[in-house]
Amino acid sequence: MVDLKGQYKHIQNEVDEAVIKVIREANFINGSDVALFSDELSAYLDGAHVIPCANGTDALQIAMMALDLRPGDEVIVPAFTYVATTEVIGLLNLKPVMVDVDPDTFNVTVDQIRKAITPKTKAIVPVHLFGQCANMEPILDLAKEKGLYVIEDTAQAIGAHFTFSDGTTRKAGTMGHIGCTSFFPSKNLGCYGDGGAVYTTDEMLAAKIKMIANHGQVKKYVHKYIGVNSRLDTIQAAILRIKLRHLNNYSFARNTAAEKYDELLKGINGLVTPIRQHNSTHVFHQYTLKIANGKRDALKQHLEAHGIPAMIYYPVPLHEQEAYKSIGEVVGDLSVTYNLCASVLSLPMHTELTDAQQQFISDTIHSFYKL
Ligand SMILES: Cc1ncc(COP(=O)(O)O)c(C=O)c1O
Repeated sequence: MVDLKGQYKHIQNEVDEAVIKVIREANFINGSDVALFSDELSAYLDGAHVIPCANGTDALQIAMMALDLRPGDEVIVPAFTYVATTEVIGLLNLKPVMVDVDPDTFNVTVDQIRKAITPKTKAIVPVHLFGQCANMEPILDLAKEKGLYVIEDTAQAIGAHFTFSDGTTRKAGTMGHIGCTSFFPSKNLGCYGDGGAVYTTDEMLAAKIKMIANHGQVKKYVHKYIGVNSRLDTIQAAILRIKLRHLNNYSFARNTAAEKYDELLKGINGLVTPIRQHNSTHVFHQYTLKIANGKRDALKQHLEAHGIPAMIYYPVPLHEQEAYKSIGEVVGDLSVTYNLCASVLSLPMHTELTDAQQQFISDTIHSFYKL
């Protein structure tokens, strides 16, 4: 699905040198690369504050702690997403309220969110799934009208941007009150271990987030909040500084590969290639097909029989997971979510895909439909 070794080869000298430098200086925790990476990512995000942390799941937890969400508060999340989004809501004894998503973009919609709002609702977590932004403008308007926090889960969409109706553009993760991202190795900006970050454009909130990520500490042995110990290792920060310089090229390579897949796979009856949200760019964390007529699992097997990995993100709606059955609430019938869980299939998507690989993948898919 990804080719991390191939990607590493292009930056091997720089990465090796940076990692060895950290080891030689023994600056493993909060070394200078952490602050430098935070500043550089902040510049990339047009000035939003960036607080690095240990992983994307922690980023979401820290965000909810910083917004003072309290047990029983309701947080609206899409039912079709990775578990981490809902997990931290459960962990903090908040109530996940799961809503359906758009059948074309797979992202949460303002109409679904509106139906789920109650007097206990405190926050909305739009997830920019697979690499393109949810339709944020109406979501932000609704949140403002109802006085709700917006926490963007942008683990899969670093580098994407959204264009508002007045023509202004904002990067994914910098539109709501807080944005949360992951640097898991296979992410578009991935490190060589675990990593994550919290973003906000609010200076006061940034200061609080920074404290919460570091034991709630104002300074050594002075603890203002109950916090967590969630740090980005210096080695990971040093690697991310190098990879951040290539991020736009990585997004370009993913878009080029996506367009090639679109072209190779067009016209197959019962196979839908990814539909783009008109006001968002797409960074193709995943290239996800919809396979109709109950053929998804057979196509997956056919690809695997030819040595091609294909993954189902996500096979089970979150409210069906044992852990969330008793604590979550569902709004509506979630028919789109059920349908997507039964029909989505993600193809290999990364920065190193070759034309020959894509041609082989496409030929194998075409051969399945001719069987
Ligand atoms: C949508 C989404 N949110 C949150 C996360 C959690 O990130 P991490 O694995 O770094 O904890 C992920 C990672 O897979 C994700 O895809």
